[in-house]
Amino acid sequence: MRVITPLLLLMLICSAEPRKGPRSKDGERGPAGKLKGKVRGRNRAGVMRRQTQECTEYTEAGEKYLDCQGRQLSSVMPNWPRDIQHLLLARNKFKVLRDNMFANFPQLKTLDLQQNAIFMVEDNAFSGLSRLKILLLQHNNLKSVSEEVLLPMPRLNYLRIYDNPWSCQCPLDSLVRTLQVPSNRNLGNYAKCAEPASLKGEKLKTLKVDLLCAEEAQVEGGEDPPAKIPPIKKKPEAMSLCRAHYFPQPRMDCSNKNLSHIPSEMPSEMHKIDLSRNGIKHLRPKQFLLSKDLKVLNLSSNNLQQIDTAAFSGLLHLHNLDLSNNSLRYFQYGVLEDLYFLRTLLLDNNPWTCDYNIHYLVYWLKLHPGVSYRGLLCSHPAEFRGWRVEDYVKTYNGECPIDKQTDGIDNEAAEHGGSENEVQGVMGEMAEGQGELLPQPIKKKEPSPFEIIRLS
Ligand SMILES: *[C@@H]1O[C@H](CO)[C@@H](O)[C@H](O)[C@H]1NC(C)=O
Ligand SMILES: *[C@@H]1O[C@H](CO)[C@@H](O)[C@H](O)[C@H]1NC(C)=O
Ligand SMILES: *[C@@H]1O[C@H](CO)[C@@H](O)[C@H](O)[C@H]1NC(C)=O
Repeated sequence: MRVITPLLLLMLICSAEPRKGPRSKDGERGPAGKLKGKVRGRNRAGVMRRQTQECTEYTEAGEKYLDCQGRQLSSVMPNWPRDIQHLLLARNKFKVLRDNMFANFPQLKTLDLQQNAIFMVEDNAFSGLSRLKILLLQHNNLKSVSEEVLLPMPRLNYLRIYDNPWSCQCPLDSLVRTLQVPSNRNLGNYAKCAEPASLKGEKLKTLKVDLLCAEEAQVEGGEDPPAKIPPIKKKPEAMSLCRAHYFPQPRMDCSNKNLSHIPSEMPSEMHKIDLSRNGIKHLRPKQFLLSKDLKVLNLSSNNLQQIDTAAFSGLLHLHNLDLSNNSLRYFQYGVLEDLYFLRTLLLDNNPWTCDYNIHYLVYWLKLHPGVSYRGLLCSHPAEFRGWRVEDYVKTYNGECPIDKQTDGIDNEAAEHGGSENEVQGVMGEMAEGQGELLPQPIKKKEPSPFEIIRLS
């Protein structure tokens, strides 16, 4: 049955009438017309139909189609079936393709968006479409898109973008370069520049690509300094050093690549980044700031010695942080404050040093009872080697005069998982160390991130 598939796909490419009257060669229309008739005749026996809101869902040759053509739609609907392979959205009112718009349809092989009013495609609009083969965007209002929109679709082999008013200037450079790669034979054929005047009518496929950015510099070279010309886009460092996977979930595999630093321009849609088994020594502030969807970060088996405050900024949704097998001795004050939703923290196999500096980590863990952690054992100084760090902190509290003010340590309660008093004790020390008063311990039921923020 699969044999039929290429024919159907071909039909999808050819069948829809161009908005502006016939433009295809006569030779093409004959067979396309016949095929079209066959599509209309899909009520025949053996073809299942089912209404999905206003769209029609059907199976043909074992493949699932959702036909939503000409239905005034401007966005995808949450109730559309997730397992469809061909999504027909021609002749609707789509204007902007938003990041992750099609991420609910990871099985898609065909996406037909021709004859809409699309003028913008966000860089991650096609994120998750790792199986997409055919993307139809002809007869829209696109002036420019970046090659980045294509990255999530490694199997794309038909891209139709003609009859869009392409603006052949510097921002289009990366896309044009991609289309001109010889192996991308069926990507972007027939698309032409609409502006600037000097390039009007040139095909993107054959345009002298070096003109794109040069042109802009010349045009604006007169009196005004050239307005922000975007630099020629190189492949982002992360994309050249790591392997991106988009199925079933977007993840970056940067494991075992001899990296000495976090690669720049990590794609923002990643759910998991594996940086394990490298030689990273130092996490600097805000290197993950754009990874707003990150849930799992694996930094195990590096040589991490230092993590700056704000290194984890932006990782609001991180669930799982693996720092095992590194050279960490303590956490700098405040390092963990960005990790509101952390659930698992792996700390094994680090030379944790049981002195005053380790208290911040223990204190933070107490305030976040939902975080399960592992491997927090003293490795220095010798007298505490092998102790659980929590036990070390308890003895410290026991000797510390400031604890007397907090009504003494309730050791029994502490053994059963910590008490407010103990938290208070640790906080007392923190206050001493910071030279400023810290807020009272928050009520145990709900460690709210907002109250924690006041500490830093
Ligand atoms: C790993 O990277 C370092 C520099 O960071 C280099 O000196 C070394 O040769 C690299 N090792 C391998 C196996 O590539
Ligand atoms: C991190 O990577 C290491 C080895 O590369 C692996 O053994 C470990 O399970 C990973 N941790 C998580 C949390 O996935
Ligand atoms: C710990 O990391 C070192 C390199 O830093 C590596 O050689 C070793 O295999 C790792 N151990 C484990 C248990 O992953």
